Amino acid sequence: MEELSAVRHKAIAALADAGVPSPGVDVDLLLCHVLGISRSELKLRELRGDSFEASHREEFTQLVAARRTRIPLQHLTGVAHFRYLELKVGPGVFTPRPETETVVQLGLDFVVQQALEAPNCIDLCSGSGAIAAALASELPGSKVWAVELSDDAIQYTKANCLPHQVTVLHQDATTLPEDLEGIMDLVVSNPPYIPPNAIPREAEVRDHDPAMALYGLGDDGLQIPRAVAGQAMKLLRPGGYFVMEHAEVQQDSAATMLREAGFTQVSGHEDLTGRARATCGYAPHR
Ligand SMILES: C[S@@+](CC[C@H](N)C(=O)[O-])C[C@H]1O[C@@H](n2cnc3c(N)ncnc32)[C@H](O)[C@@H]1O
Repeated sequence: MEELSAVRHKAIAALADAGVPSPGVDVDLLLCHVLGISRSELKLRELRGDSFEASHREEFTQLVAARRTRIPLQHLTGVAHFRYLELKVGPGVFTPRPETETVVQLGLDFVVQQALEAPNCIDLCSGSGAIAAALASELPGSKVWAVELSDDAIQYTKANCLPHQVTVLHQDATTLPEDLEGIMDLVVSNPPYIPPNAIPREAEVRDHDPAMALYGLGDDGLQIPRAVAGQAMKLLRPGGYFVMEHAEVQQDSAATMLREAGFTQVSGHEDLTGRARATCGYAPHR
């Protein structure tokens, strides 16, 4: 039987050869998935010089071959880690990204600063439900809604949000019912925002994230974000807060968009790598 360490190193070389951006992490997560163990247990077994059990060989070989074709790691394991949550993901739903964790934090900071004990929060364009589920799980006492239009993504929105008592709405996030207007303390959104001529280079994104999750329509990709900002203004109570994710190059357009929608104290925010990836604003006190 081959040593686990040798199997691991061969798989890393195979993924690196296929241009996979983070081959070491990916192989570790695939091994953990196949063996049903944590990363610390994997490290321990490797250091101990444990063997790789033959019964797992075929499944692991198939997963490495699939990852070499640039199928996203999260589609192969079926999970994505987001803040404190393990979310269900797969084909048909946008894989949540680390920068969106910062977007959630901006919303949480507002709730803490305002000392809101039972805030009403809504996540527009929810996809996997990452934002809504994170808000609900980290804000005990909150009431959270998630809104997603895609027929393919909605099963994931429900699977990830319903365990956290989030109300899931399967509809267009830019035309919400009037009974939700003026009742929200916080609106958070990571809408589609890529312009039509900026097709992503990364195969995992270009070929596996749904087009509906990527492209924001209009020449600048901001047609849906603009409509989302307009809807957010209607949903918020006076003094409520809106947080929206966007591309780094859209920082100025996003600020203009929020001001035009009527938001005040508009501010841009960076992600953990220092890129301007979110813009926030307050609904005015009327
Ligand atoms: C960039 S993804 C973000 C998903 C999730 N919020 C996240 O951060 O991981 C955008 C999502 O918006 C959805 N979407 C696109 N247009 C929409 C609309 N008009 N109403 C509701 N959802 C929409 C897409 O299906 C996709 O799930």
